[in-house]
Amino acid sequence: MCGIVGYLGYKAIAPLLVESLRTLEYRGYDSSGIAVYNNGTQNINIYKATGKLQNLVEVLPADLLMEPPIKNLQVGIGHIRWATHGAPTVENAHPHHGHHGEVVLVHNGIIENFAELKQVLQGKGYVFNSQTDTETVAHLLEDILKSHQHDFLPAVAELRRQLHGAYALTMMHKQAPGKLYVARQQAPLVIGVGNQGEYWVASDVVALVSYTNQIIYLEDGQYAELSEEGGVKLFGPDNTPVEVKIHTIQTGPLTIDKKGYKHFMLKEIYEQPDVVRNALLERITSDTSPVFIANDTPVSEKESVSIASLSQDVDRVIIIGCGTSYNAGMVAKYLIEELVRIPVEVEAAGEYRYRNPVLNDRCLVIAISQSGETADTLEALRLAIRSGAKTIALTNRPDSTMAREVGGVINVRAGVEVSVCATKSFVAQIVALYLLGIMMCEHRGVAEKLAELPELKKALLTLPVLMEAMLSNVDPLQKLARKYGHYTSMLFIARGVCFPAALEGALKLKEISYIHAEGYSGAELKHGPIALLDESMPVVSLLSDGAVFDKMLSNCQEAKARSAQMISVTNKAIPHGYENTFDDIISYPACHEWVAPLLGSIPLQLLSYYTAEFLGKDVDQPRNLAKSVTVE
Ligand code: F6R
Repeated sequence: MCGIVGYLGYKAIAPLLVESLRTLEYRGYDSSGIAVYNNGTQNINIYKATGKLQNLVEVLPADLLMEPPIKNLQVGIGHIRWATHGAPTVENAHPHHGHHGEVVLVHNGIIENFAELKQVLQGKGYVFNSQTDTETVAHLLEDILKSHQHDFLPAVAELRRQLHGAYALTMMHKQAPGKLYVARQQAPLVIGVGNQGEYWVASDVVALVSYTNQIIYLEDGQYAELSEEGGVKLFGPDNTPVEVKIHTIQTGPLTIDKKGYKHFMLKEIYEQPDVVRNALLERITSDTSPVFIANDTPVSEKESVSIASLSQDVDRVIIIGCGTSYNAGMVAKYLIEELVRIPVEVEAAGEYRYRNPVLNDRCLVIAISQSGETADTLEALRLAIRSGAKTIALTNRPDSTMAREVGGVINVRAGVEVSVCATKSFVAQIVALYLLGIMMCEHRGVAEKLAELPELKKALLTLPVLMEAMLSNVDPLQKLARKYGHYTSMLFIARGVCFPAALEGALKLKEISYIHAEGYSGAELKHGPIALLDESMPVVSLLSDGAVFDKMLSNCQEAKARSAQMISVTNKAIPHGYENTFDDIISYPACHEWVAPLLGSIPLQLLSYYTAEFLGKDVDQPRNLAKSVTVE
């Protein structure tokens, strides 16, 4: 969701804030803004614009973009917005200021009691200029400051007492020009530490890695004051001082670069062979057991935790996730149940967290999250931790909140994923889950299943080469996108372990091309969705060689009999007798049945990509979406 940055130091502040925001642009892009303390006028100046970050750059005064002429301390904050309360307008863009301009702040999250607070503040004469919940925080803080003799830290403590909901706040106080204040409650926030009293703030470490590798992770309920002379004064939820722990992170500066591709999504689709290689590297060979190596996580206390020990002595596996991560979990369910012979439930985290699920220490809960910050998955994971279940976070961000709170971490190693529409992380998540399944199978020693493992391992190891072959010929998918791009609705069907890949294929298409699409099991078609079928609704069928191939062929026949345009994505020749069933056939290489969803997903990703591109959509920044959903 929205991105926050802050800086206190001697560098030219506006370019620095803008560049840091640029690294977070993929997380929200409705509008943006910065606030900078002006040493001359002793005011806090705010600049905002709607739309892309470039629009903000265009409204910044030229002198702000230049090096400061004298060695003056620079203090400022910035924000890139994904609208929750109020449309994406300049008024609603952050930073927001209080009634008297004493306080300026940026916020990620949702203040649940903002309406009540606003009513009280309006009663006191505070005038609101926006529809946001955030402006309430700015006015409220000013109101509290009045009764705290402008002493900011006790005011923040009182503010925290009055706010309900989720927030990461970075705040400036006109009367404390050399200071930044931060507070965290259920929304990520980190502090970067530089040399000699230089500090950065960000909602994601990605925004800081170009400047420092010294990171302080704020925990829920913590707040802090940052200043050159006083350093970091950190306080816990009970308002007592907390010892500051600085983590040295491994990641070097990140180059967020399309490397010649038209979009990040296309680049990330093409990265998948290397992503799979990396996911398997040092973890598996054709005749060794998977190992999840200690340096998978930079969080040192986790390094001794063995994934192997966590996955032993369990009777049930519960996988939680949202969106694409949920779909990856669905693929793994088929494999783990087959190989390990224990029940696997896959749960949408947003529902799970509000149930009263049956959990105990014989359950292994695996939270899947590319970002490691998705609010629903994080809360479902916390529920599992409280219930005494064994917990693993399978994430692309081993520095994330989930990774820091959980029993064990599996790094999916996909590399930074910039495209809002997830592709490479889906594939990497499935590979990591398969390794976990293989490892659990070997530990539990289900004899007849053990015999199947060498073939499966080989299949995983040959995946990158097969993927490369597939990615070398994308013309048929470009043609398909042009042929079907004008339809307004599509169905994706598959069965068995490929069924979740059909769900994912439909999710990809609707996300970036805004074409209505649904994924179904081929078996479910005749229980309702078939009523939708006629010549106006194409059906994409993922047909993979294996136990359900013939069943799927019958389901495709049933759809064709209703005049649907039939597109087959298949790794097996279509048998005689079915020549007229399909209008278009996309072939992909023959492969082991278990890896078919990994290979079969590639044509579906490309179909979505080329359709969105053909329709002229903003592929990397689709409307209404954000990369990391840190609010409920
Ligand atoms: C789809 C997509 C989303 C995410 C979902 C969960 O392309 O990206 O559906 O998969 O928001 O995000 P993470 O995996 O970060 O928890």
